[in-house]
Amino acid sequence: MQIQVHDTAFEAADRVAKILLDHIRSHPRPTLGLPTGGTPLPVYAQLLSDFRAGRSSWRHVRSFNLDEYVGLGSDHPESYARYMHTNLFAHVDCPANQWRVPDGLAHDPEAEADAYESAIDEAGGIDIVFMGIGHNGHIGFNEPGAPHDSRCCCVVLEPETIQANSRFFSSAKNVPTKAITMGIGTILTSRKLVLLATGEGKAAAVSSAIEGPISQMVPASALQRHADVTIVLDRHAASLLG
Ligand code: PGA
Repeated sequence: MQIQVHDTAFEAADRVAKILLDHIRSHPRPTLGLPTGGTPLPVYAQLLSDFRAGRSSWRHVRSFNLDEYVGLGSDHPESYARYMHTNLFAHVDCPANQWRVPDGLAHDPEAEADAYESAIDEAGGIDIVFMGIGHNGHIGFNEPGAPHDSRCCCVVLEPETIQANSRFFSSAKNVPTKAITMGIGTILTSRKLVLLATGEGKAAAVSSAIEGPISQMVPASALQRHADVTIVLDRHAASLLG
């Protein structure tokens, strides 16, 4: 596990953007796993500015998002499909059929999760999964207790996650209670993992994930099982590391 601590959140995000861009530039068919949330926004801003400067192309990129809320379609402002469109894919040259988010409106969310897992397999797996970490240590929407060999599935969100994400909704009551997520096992089968965490609020989760025992109660501790993991932190998120 490689741990990089940067002075500011901007520098940490810049580092992650460079890892992704190096991969996009050097692989003929790059396949990425991408997150949503507040943490990745400065990464997406950097990716866009690189694209706009003509230094990168997304024409051959394929991407699979980590997760989506059950019940929200791409026309819902807080759906992750909308987030990815607004913050990245509306602005780059990636064909629409090459970036995928689980369908939150699927009639059968479990079947959609299975189809999503199959689509990842058919794409030859994911080269780099970029992810954040929840205050409770979740990755994707794999909440504490999730098995480390789980595949794409439909999950129930923890009250803490609903509370954390309510800042994007008019109230916690409007946050969906279920999601479709890549499983921890799905994430671990990817060739490289990059986790970005910034801010003091993530320090405890980061420390348990990296320095604590591997435990189902800390989903991100599963990353210790993978051979190629880069953890990129600002100094606040790194403040509890020994
Ligand atoms: P955040 O979410 O970037 O909005 O803090 C991270 C996560 O829940 O994985």
